[in-house]
Amino acid sequence: MARRTAPVRDWSEDFDVLDAGYIEDPFTIWDELRQTCPIAHSNRRGSNWLPTRYEDVTAMAHDIEHFSSVEVGVIPVAVDDPEEPLLPYGLPPISVDPPIHTWTRRLLLPWFSHRRVESYEAMTRGLCSQLIESFADSGHADAAENYAQQIPVRVIAQILGVSADLSDTFTGWVRDVLEFADDRERNFSAVEALFNYFVAEIAHRRQNPGSDLLSELLQTEVEGAEIEESVVLGMAALVLIAGVDTTWSAIGSSLWHLATHEDDRKRLVAEPELMPLAVEELLRAYSPVTMARLVTSDIEFKGCPMKAGDKLLMNFPAANRDPAVFEDADKVVLDRQHNRHVAFGSGIHRCAGSNLARMELRVALEEWLKRIPEFRLAEGAELTWAGGQVRGPRVLPVVFP
Ligand code: HEM
Repeated sequence: MARRTAPVRDWSEDFDVLDAGYIEDPFTIWDELRQTCPIAHSNRRGSNWLPTRYEDVTAMAHDIEHFSSVEVGVIPVAVDDPEEPLLPYGLPPISVDPPIHTWTRRLLLPWFSHRRVESYEAMTRGLCSQLIESFADSGHADAAENYAQQIPVRVIAQILGVSADLSDTFTGWVRDVLEFADDRERNFSAVEALFNYFVAEIAHRRQNPGSDLLSELLQTEVEGAEIEESVVLGMAALVLIAGVDTTWSAIGSSLWHLATHEDDRKRLVAEPELMPLAVEELLRAYSPVTMARLVTSDIEFKGCPMKAGDKLLMNFPAANRDPAVFEDADKVVLDRQHNRHVAFGSGIHRCAGSNLARMELRVALEEWLKRIPEFRLAEGAELTWAGGQVRGPRVLPVVFP
């Protein structure tokens, strides 16, 4: 939910990704910046750079020498003791550079292969239809809270081998970590709770190993040694954090689009075979995730004097709206043929869970449209959007006949 921040004087030199207007409609701001100042700067929350062109965002994502992943949080947080951090490697592989990045990523990838993801599809479909049945006859629902938000967390719980009863608790932790990153107290207590939870789970899995991701990581050896517990902990926490509000935001934004664009909704109902292309287009147009990088040494990038210690915001969502790459970039074209979007990032950190995210988004939309083909925003509905690292609707009241 948007919080009050000081008004922005000038988007090219004082941007604020937590500005309420930016969270609601960043698109016109990016369009303007791309023309006038394609890499904007701000001194709010440290010295930060914000690229808006596809070419720049992808070039930066590939330059891992100058732009490190050791700080990927868009909103800086001082969560614990910098001398003795709880997680010295953060949440690998997302928060590390090679060489740790290479092997931690390799260990996660098989869990999200096409084959594995296919095996989660029936369970996801059952879950979606069960959620829909709980409100379908009432004629109204909060498509964010009652639906989108409920899906990914339950699927991830299964992969991690943790109880689905904890879904609401997980959702709260993930929101406090990402959405409320600027609320120190809230953020810190969520990180602590998540940490303590996984410490206890790891102790339990050491005694009672199962066939889940956590158990497998604990039994894996890298170069003849067990993986350090803090790395296992970070990886498990990442899977939970990365897989939850990203996907629920994508499902929520897509339902918002269909609730507000009758022609697209009708077309998708009439031509369900368009769904795979539509999923890519909705991911492009409403890309939820912005990441950060830490500038490792002074560098001039396209005339911008970046200093070691500055932050760079990997603005994948703005890259996806760049008219130099996408025709009618600000328009949703459900059957767009050429769509090299970077919603899942670009380069070595490209999303490890993209197969799962795509399946969940497709199944969530298919099940919804099957049961509720006609729907629109509730009259006078007060929508709220979250933004910063992950953008998506948090309150989305819809009605249907
Ligand atoms: C629509 C949903 C999703 C979007 C838009 C998304 C987006 C992204 C992006 C942009 C990155 C790149 C980060 C960077 O460059 O720093 C990333 C990385 C990652 N994502 Fe996703 N993600 C989604 C869903 C998921 C899911 C469901 C999972 C599975 C649990 C997942 C797991 C990961 C992991 C493990 C990484 C780190 C990869 C690495 O550092 O090598 N994501 N994601």
